[in-house]
Order: sequence, then structure tokens, then C-alpha cells
Amino acid sequence: MTLTNMVGVRCCFKLLYAIVVLILLHMNNPCIGCSERESQALLALKQGLVAHHYNDPFLYWGNQNKDCCEWDRVHCSNQTGHVVKLDLRQRSLQGKISPKLIELQHLEYLDLSGNDFNGSQIPDFIGSLSNLRYLDLSRANFLGLIPYQLGNLRNLHYLDLSYQDYLLWLPNLYAKNLYWLPNLSRLKYLDLSVVNLSDVVGWLEAVNMLPKLTNLTLQICNLPPPVISSVSLLNSSKSLVHVDLSSNNLNSSIFQWLPGTHTNLDYLDLTGNKLSGRIPESIGQMSNLVYLLLSDTKLSGRIPESIGQMSNLVYLQLSYTKLSGRIPESIGQMSNLESIDLSMNSFEGVISETHFSKLSKLRILDLSSNSLVLNFSFDWVPPFQLDEIRLGSCKMGPYFPKWLRTQKSYDWLDISDAGISDTIPTWFWDLGSKLGYKDLSRNQIRGNLRSELAYNNLNVSWNQLEGPIPSILSDVSILDLSNNKFSGSASFLCTNKTEESSLTYLDLSRNHVSGELPDCWIHFQQLQFLDLSSNSLSGKIPTTMGHLISIETLNLNNNRFVGELPSQLKNCRNLTLIDVGENKLSGLIPEWLGKNLLNLAIIILRSNQFYRNIPPQLCHLTHLQILDLSMNNISGTIPKCLNTLTTLAQNGYSRPSIEHSNYFQLGESSVSTSSYDDEASLTWKGVRSKYKSILGLVKSIDLSCNKLSGEIPTEITYLVGLVSLNLSRNRLTGQIPLRIGNLQELDSLDLSRNQINGTIPISISWINRIGYLDLSENNLSGKIPIGTQLQTFSFAYGGNPLLCGEPLPRTCSEEEKGPGQSMLVNEDDKDGLITQGFYISMGLGFAVGFWGVCGTLLLNRSCRYTYFNFLTFLNDWLYVKTEIIRQRILNK
Ligand SMILES: *[C@@H]1O[C@H](CO)[C@@H](O)[C@H](O)[C@H]1NC(C)=O
Ligand SMILES: *[C@@H]1O[C@H](CO)[C@@H](O)[C@H](O)[C@H]1NC(C)=O
Ligand SMILES: *[C@@H]1O[C@H](CO)[C@@H](O)[C@H](O)[C@H]1NC(C)=O
Ligand SMILES: *[C@@H]1O[C@H](CO)[C@@H](O)[C@H](O)[C@H]1NC(C)=O
Ligand SMILES: *[C@@H]1O[C@H](CO)[C@@H](O)[C@H](O)[C@H]1NC(C)=O
Ligand SMILES: *[C@@H]1O[C@H](CO)[C@@H](O)[C@H](O)[C@H]1NC(C)=O
Ligand SMILES: *[C@@H]1O[C@H](CO)[C@@H](O)[C@H](O)[C@H]1NC(C)=O
Ligand SMILES: *[C@@H]1O[C@H](CO)[C@@H](O)[C@H](O)[C@H]1NC(C)=O
Ligand SMILES: *[C@@H]1O[C@H](CO)[C@@H](O)[C@H](O)[C@H]1NC(C)=O
Repeated sequence: MTLTNMVGVRCCFKLLYAIVVLILLHMNNPCIGCSERESQALLALKQGLVAHHYNDPFLYWGNQNKDCCEWDRVHCSNQTGHVVKLDLRQRSLQGKISPKLIELQHLEYLDLSGNDFNGSQIPDFIGSLSNLRYLDLSRANFLGLIPYQLGNLRNLHYLDLSYQDYLLWLPNLYAKNLYWLPNLSRLKYLDLSVVNLSDVVGWLEAVNMLPKLTNLTLQICNLPPPVISSVSLLNSSKSLVHVDLSSNNLNSSIFQWLPGTHTNLDYLDLTGNKLSGRIPESIGQMSNLVYLLLSDTKLSGRIPESIGQMSNLVYLQLSYTKLSGRIPESIGQMSNLESIDLSMNSFEGVISETHFSKLSKLRILDLSSNSLVLNFSFDWVPPFQLDEIRLGSCKMGPYFPKWLRTQKSYDWLDISDAGISDTIPTWFWDLGSKLGYKDLSRNQIRGNLRSELAYNNLNVSWNQLEGPIPSILSDVSILDLSNNKFSGSASFLCTNKTEESSLTYLDLSRNHVSGELPDCWIHFQQLQFLDLSSNSLSGKIPTTMGHLISIETLNLNNNRFVGELPSQLKNCRNLTLIDVGENKLSGLIPEWLGKNLLNLAIIILRSNQFYRNIPPQLCHLTHLQILDLSMNNISGTIPKCLNTLTTLAQNGYSRPSIEHSNYFQLGESSVSTSSYDDEASLTWKGVRSKYKSILGLVKSIDLSCNKLSGEIPTEITYLVGLVSLNLSRNRLTGQIPLRIGNLQELDSLDLSRNQINGTIPISISWINRIGYLDLSENNLSGKIPIGTQLQTFSFAYGGNPLLCGEPLPRTCSEEEKGPGQSMLVNEDDKDGLITQGFYISMGLGFAVGFWGVCGTLLLNRSCRYTYFNFLTFLNDWLYVKTEIIRQRILNK
């Protein structure tokens, strides 16, 4: 080998070496693929977070692949190789964000929404990610002040910090000012819903300084009314298309900002604000508006005619306001309208075909709860096919409305209280979707039901329907046939029953159904409400009723049931109301009522033949609110443990009505909530009446007409929440407990027809609000104490020969007057003027309890079966809206 050859070979090796090195260098090129710093930053982020799914791909970050650009949900630039996008939305991760995140300096897109950052603050170092264009930290359980450092994110187009507490909507985040906001001059999308902005007076100025802003969402922010100046109007950002300021404290000044300057608006939602006065005519200038939502406000007057100019409007929601007058016919020209909701207002006048002349796209029509008359020509064929027809209380009788025959596939029909006095036409049953809901209640409708009930939900209560009840097919879910003239046996319940029934609500009360109850309740495990009261049912209560594991309300009142309460009922652990009063039941009062059914709030066994003593187990019922054991053969003494009845031992109440709710499928693709309020009939001041919307206020014990003996236990004076106490017509002896005056809420006290002796305790005169008192037919003696009202109950003291003083004719001797029987007036008379008893005795209902079956939720198909799936859609805006309105109404 020559020297030159040697040199040549060496050269070759060098060349090869160089090539290899070049290749290797290229493979490690720090400009392509993610850098060491970036992978370390991502690993630090992973360190701080716990994944809840054991096979979450997030867990494999760094395990096999060195190049972090390959990791799940990490995206790198295909030019520089830097991490530019991190999308960890809805991973159920929990923990803290590592400060090493700022090493990802090239990050443009960061989405950490739907995780749980455990109530920590939004880290201020996020403000150092200066290339960020997209930042979503919503629904992530952050708490505290929004860091002003976000103002450094000058490239941001999209910022969402909404709904940190997405279940309870507590305003966990807050801001004292928004001085940093105008720095985000490229912002197009801003959502700060459920951030407490109550102190940010200048929020509108801040928003106005964002020249590119298109979407602004500030729901439930405690927003104060903005300061409107001519300057802020001039400088107002004109780019806005979507404005949602629902559920805040805005007043009508907001109208000065919006219609004039924002003619491009597509979406305007001011639901749940303190708007008052009229809707300005200028609203018609927003001619591009597609959605207009002004529900749950105090807007009054007429709907402005200019609304007819909004030819792009698709969705008009003006429910729960104080609007009145006629509905303008110009509404019939808005040919794009798909949904009109004018319910719960004071509109009046006649609705004619003109109101709908061009509304061929209409799908949802809600005019319920107004004073409207619908007057269409006999063979009117509407231009629309509706999905929801909500016309409750709109008068359209006396004939059954024939135009309904043209509507083929609606999910919802409400023509309750419509003044219809006609036979139900046979075509009616074939219309509407199979899983829909039909409400024909409170009319004078006659006729029979068809031979089977194929519909999911049907309410025909308060009509004149008759004949036998047809068999209920398995997908029926809500059925209210109460207050009609249905007759025949109850066997329809079990006809061909082989599979699980989806029935959740069944009301057959006040009909003429007779015979024994069939024993097939094993198929009704979803039944939550069962009311068979006021029929002629007889025989024993079937033992399979113990399979009603979902049952919350069981009412068998006023029938002819015999035998004992079957012990299987102890499996119905969710029972809150059991009413088997006015039957011929006998046996012992079961101990399991108190041992097993710990949710019981109302027990009514009135007017049966139960005997022996009151089991002390009943004292375990901490939710007990009404106990009615009157008119039985109960003996023994009143248990002393009464003081453990927590609800009765507290005054005040948590809810005016006792509401139950559930979710059911409605139509093919939506879920709806249904709710009902428990009802009970009680004897109040000697009068039997029904209580429903205020049942939650009633706290009562009625043991009258039994054979109870012994003394009234002093423990009864711990039940300071009691509004009514009736122990009359027993064999009670001893004295009235001295501290009876502790029962400050008492509105009605009846101890008559016993053998109670001793004097009437002075403390009784402290009960200021007592409206009914009966102590007659006892052995009381001495002077009747003088109190605010005690002298007005002229019949309260008769049959006690040893009593004296006003209002009795017999004056007291010196001896009878006794010590201290002087006038006693309660000093703390100022507050508490309105007691529970006051409300109840006035028969005043609160403006609640009308919700009934309500609020369709247009949800995705996939979520219609289970409540769990339903929860995952909680952020659906429609749901949020329905709930907000509902909460506001309940809070009123
Ligand atoms: C980088 O990717 C984007 C989209 O992911 C693509 O539009 C673009 O053409 C790519 N650029 C190069 C240089 O490959
Ligand atoms: C969440 O915070 C609590 C204290 O506030 C702490 O005990 C808990 O360990 C934290 N959980 C996680 C996953 O960081
Ligand atoms: C907003 O930008 C200005 C510069 O234009 C800067 O001085 C200020 O610190 C920024 N404010 C915030 C809160 O980032
Ligand atoms: C919002 O903040 C204000 C004052 O900063 C406070 O008074 C108010 O209670 C907060 N609202 C809620 C709902 O937390
Ligand atoms: C109005 O906007 C312009 C440009 O954004 C700005 O220079 C000016 O200071 C603003 N005026 C007021 C009174 O905010
Ligand atoms: C912004 O608003 C428009 C108009 O209402 C809407 O179509 C769009 O989906 C909104 N953008 C986002 C990101 O929500
Ligand atoms: C009930 O079953 C009988 C025979 O099994 C059948 O003839 C009848 O059609 C069924 N009725 C209903 C309503 O399914
Ligand atoms: C009983 O009530 C609880 C609480 O409301 C509920 O979670 C549970 O599912 C109910 N049980 C049944 C069998 O319906
Ligand atoms: C009340 O009657 C009981 C017997 O039932 C008797 O022991 C007691 O002395 C009587 N008290 C008065 C004050 O008459």
C-alpha cells in the first residue's frame, strides 16, 4: 500500500466519520423536535398532577418516547419544533401547575379546563407565557383573585376563566378591577362567567377598550349597573356579535349601550337582570339579532312594534317579566322565528292566524300563563310543525282545537286550563311523539282513554273522563289521571306485566277505582310517587309494595284497606311521606317506621284501627315534621323521647313546599325535569284542609281521639318549631307542662276532653300568635291567665268547673287568683311578626310550587338515558339558563 493510498483511505474514513457525525448531529438538532428544557417542563407539570384514570395517556408522558412532541396532547410547531399547544382539557387531573410551565415560552395554546386545581390561585406566572393566543382555564376549581399579570398576554385572542365551581356556581374567582383587561388588545373572546365582579364599576369601559372583541360572556358575575357616559358610548367596541350578561344586577341603562352602537349583534342575553320599564323601540335597530333573551326581568308595557323589523330573529324569549297588552301581529312577519317564549306575563287579547302568518319555521311556541284567547278559524292549517306546544291557560274552548290535528310529532303539548268542554277526539291519541308529554288537565274533557296508554307522559287530571283505566305499557313514565270519574278495578296495573316499568309518577287519586290492589309491584322499581287516595280500593296492602325501592311519596288515604301495614315496606328507605289515613287498617304502629325509614317527614295514620302504644322508635325520625295518629285506638303514654325530633325542635323551615324532582326522557333527544310538591290534608283549627305549596311550613303533631293516658311529657316543650299540637279526646292526666310557653310558633293548641288538672300555666300567655286554643272538658282549676288573646277564646275553657276569671262568667275568689297571676305581655314583640303559623292560617301560598313538569332541556342524544350522563352536560347553556331562571324564581 502506497502512502498516497493510505492518505486516501484515511480521507475516506474522515469523510465517513464526518457524514456520520453530521447525521447524528442532525438527529439531535435542537431546532427540530422538543428541547430538553421543554420536556423537563412537561415532566414537572406531570409531577404536580394526579390522573384519575389509571390508563390516562398523560401518565405515559416521558415513559417511552424522548421527543415530547410525540406525547399525548402535546403539539409542536412543524417549523421550529417547539411546543406550541398543550390541550389537557377534561382529563380529570388534580393538583397544582408547576412553575416550570414558563419554560414553554413558545406556547400559543393552553387549555387546562375541566380539571381540578384544588382551589389554588391562578398562577401569576401564566402571565409570562407571552406568546399565548388561547387560554382556557374554565371549570378548573381555581380560587381567589384573577392575577393582573394576565394583562401581559398581549397576543391573547381567547380567554375563558368561567365556572370554576361548575356544580354550585359559587363565585370562587373575583376581580377588584379590570385595569389589566384593555392590554389584551387582540382579544376576541372573553368569558368570565361566575367570577365575582361586584366591585368592578368600570367593567364596561374596560370591555369597550377591546377593539376586536366579538364574544362577551359574563353570566352570574354580580355585575353592577355600568356607568354610561357619552365617551364610553363613542369609544364602544363595535365588533361585538355575542353578548351574554345574564343573571347580573344590571338595570335598564344597559339599553343605552347596546341597541344604538351594536347593530352587528347576533346574540343578546340579559335574562335575570333588574331591567325595568319598557323595552326600547331602538331594539329594532339590532336587525342582525338572531337570539334575544330578556326573561326574568321586570320589563313592563307592551312589546315594541319595532320587534317586527328584526327579520333575522330565530329565538325570542320574554318569559317571566311584567309585559302586558296585546301581542303585536307584526310578530307573524318574522319568518325566521323558530322559538317564541312569552310565558308567565300579563299579555291579553286575541291571538289569531295573523300572528303566525309567515312563521313556517316555528318549532317551539310558549304562550302559557297569560290572559290570552286563541281564536283560529275552524279549519286553519298552520304554516308550522311544532315540537313544543305550550299553551296552558290560553282559552281555546269549548271545542277541542282542531288545528292540533295538523301537528304530527311534537314532544310536548300543554293545553291545560284552556276552557275545553268536549269529548276527546280519537285522532288525538295518534299524534305527538311516542315519548312525549301531553297535559290536558283542568278542562271539562269527557270520554274514555284508549285501550292502552302508549305515551310516556300524560296528565289528564281534573276532567270528566270515565270508564276503565287501560293497561299501562312499559315505557310510560308519568301518568296523572287524578280527579276524574275513572272506574273499574286496579288490575290494569298488572296486565301483561313481565318487564320493568319505567313509571316514576302515578296519580289515580279521587276516582272510582275499586277492588283489591294487584300484587305486581315488583315491576315498579322506578316509581317515586304513588297516589291512590280517595278511591274505593279494598283488601290488604300488597306485600310486593316493599319492592318500590325508589318510592318517596306513598298515599293510600281514604280507601277501604284492611289488615296491617306490610313489614316489607321497611325496604322503601327513601320514603318521605306515608299517608294511609282513613282506611280500616289495624295492628300495631310498626317500629320499623322509625328504625328503617329515616327520611320520613310526614306520617299520617289518621282514622284507622291501630292499637297499643306509640313506639319510641318514632323519635329517631330527625326529619319528622308532621305526625298524625289521630282517631285510632292507641293507648299507653306519649313517649318522652320527643325532644330528639330535630326538625320539630327547631323553628324556621328550609323550604315552603316539600319538593321532589327527577329527570325523564322526553322525545327522542331531550331530557326534562319533572317535579312535584307533596300534599297532605290536615286538621287545622278544627278544619280539614289540603296543604301543598306551604306544606314545608307545617310542623304538627296530632294524637287526638285515642286512648292515651298519663301525663303530657315536659319534653314536648322542646319542640319549639311546632305550629299545631292536638292531644284532645284522650285520657291524659296531670298538668299542662309549665313551659308550654316555649312553643312560640304555636298557632293552634287543643288539649280538650282529657282529665288534665291543675292550673293553666302563665307561660301560655306568652304565645303571642296563638290563633286557636281549646282546653275545654278537663279538670283545670284556678284563674285563667290574662294574655294578649287568651280572653278572646270564649269556648276554650268550658267544662272545667273549677276555672274562673275572664272570659268565664265565674269570678275568682282571692284564694283562686293565686300568686303572680298578673298580666304578662311578651316584650320581644317587635320581630317575628310573620310566623309560620301566620302564613299557614292565612292560607297564603308563596309564589312557588308551580314549576310542575318543566323546562325541556335540549340535550345531546347520547345523554338521555342516565342522570350521570346528564351531569356531564351541565355546562350546556340551556341547562344553565333554565336553572338560573328557576333559582331566581324560587328565591323571590
Ligand atoms: C405545518 O403544519 C400546518 C398545519 O398543521 C400546515 O398548515 C403547514 O403547511 C405545515 N408547514 C410545514 C412547513 O410543513
Ligand atoms: C388539595 O388541597 C388539600 C388542602 O387544601 C390537600 O390536603 C390535598 O392534598 C390537595 N390535593 C392534591 C391532589 O393536591
Ligand atoms: C399594560 O400595558 C402597559 C404598557 O402599555 C404596561 O405598562 C402595564 O404594566 C400593563 N398592565 C398590566 C396589568 O399588565
Ligand atoms: C362578591 O364580592 C363582594 C365584595 O367584593 C362581596 O360583598 C359579595 O359577597 C361577593 N358575592 C358573592 C356571591 O360571593
Ligand atoms: C378612545 O379610543 C381611542 C383609541 O382606542 C383612545 O386613544 C382614546 O383614549 C379613547 N378615549 C377615551 C375617552 O377612552
Ligand atoms: C361567538 O358568537 C357567535 C355568534 O353568536 C357564535 O356563533 C360563536 O360560536 C361564538 N364563538 C365561540 C367561540 O363561542
Ligand atoms: C296481553 O297478553 C295477551 C295474551 O298474552 C294478548 O292477547 C294481549 O294483546 C296483550 N295485551 C297487551 C296490551 O299487550
Ligand atoms: C334514594 O335517595 C338518594 C338521595 O336522594 C338517591 O341518591 C338514591 O338513588 C335513592 N334511592 C333509590 C333507590 O332511588
Ligand atoms: C291531679 O290529678 C292527679 C291524679 O290524676 C292527682 O294525683 C293530683 O293531686 C291532681 N292535682 C291537682 C292539682 O289536683
